[in-house]
Amino acid sequence: MAAKRTYLILFGAQGSGKGTQARMLQEWLGVPQVATGDLFRANLGQGTELGKLAKSYMDRGELVPDSVTVAMVEDRLSQPDAVKGAIFDGFPRNLAQAEALDAMLAQWDTGIKAAVYIQLDRDELMKRITGRRTCKNCQAVYHVEFTPPKVAGVCDVCGGEVVQRADDADKVAVARRLDIYFEQTTPVIDHYRGKKLLKEVDGSLGIETVQQAMRAAIKPKPARKAKPAARPVKKAAVKKAKPVKKSPAKRAVTRKATRK
Ligand code: AP5
Ligand code: MG
Ligand code: ZN
Repeated sequence: MAAKRTYLILFGAQGSGKGTQARMLQEWLGVPQVATGDLFRANLGQGTELGKLAKSYMDRGELVPDSVTVAMVEDRLSQPDAVKGAIFDGFPRNLAQAEALDAMLAQWDTGIKAAVYIQLDRDELMKRITGRRTCKNCQAVYHVEFTPPKVAGVCDVCGGEVVQRADDADKVAVARRLDIYFEQTTPVIDHYRGKKLLKEVDGSLGIETVQQAMRAAIKPKPARKAKPAARPVKKAAVKKAKPVKKSPAKRAVTRKATRK
């Protein structure tokens, strides 16, 4: 029998907090974050052909072609640390990618456990994106106002340089990313809502509060406990404690008695 795997999808517009939350969920779920944007940026940093190809799309705020993205995800999922599952961040982003993912997981006799949608309005998204700073080395996420690194410009996790992402600096590209998101990713969210896998959380709250809401939404409901064999004593006690209700006939008698 195939090993039990856990695949989770995080949805949310740019800046909604997918990356921030996925990193916190990794340890709890015991599966790695698979963030397509981070994978493209890592490839770019290493100067690979894939990175160079992706850059031209990312700089314009457009999606990298599906064939390239799906192949990259498939490769990532075949790595040893992902055998038990993954937390998808930024993937799937359109229906073609969702269908490719469903088919990929079906091959392994598995599917998506849940899809969590982090909701946030457009003004707040802009504030989050423009203030975001990222570690060049480990891609840890910071915000100049909400979660700055302890030492300005230096990553708390690895000591790497903390910078603004190239695609965050260009306001036109940011607006384009948001437009594409709402146009192409909304049908994907509906796809998983239709499968009754979608959980929605309010992304406007603090990072820890959002994390708790996500964990509560993902956590499987505890299996119903079998009824205890015998609890007659307790039941009887509860019954006794309740005030004894009078029957309508008795009440009528009491009223008459009081009027006298
Ligand atoms: P990607 O890297 O996926 O970027 P994105 O989708 O634009 O999403 P973001 O990373 O911007 O937002 P996030 O939700 O992760 O927010 P974060 O946690 O950082 O993609 C980049 C590009 O790659 C795309 O444009 C495309 O070209 C390409 N690409 C990627 N995937 C692709 C795919 N599947 N197909 C084709 N192309 C693809 O949080 C934002 C900020 O807010 C941070 O500063 C954080 O500190 C702060 N913050 C987070 N939560 C809170 C909170 N609760 N309170 C206060 N501040 C908070
Ligand atoms: Mg991200
Ligand atoms: Zn770092």
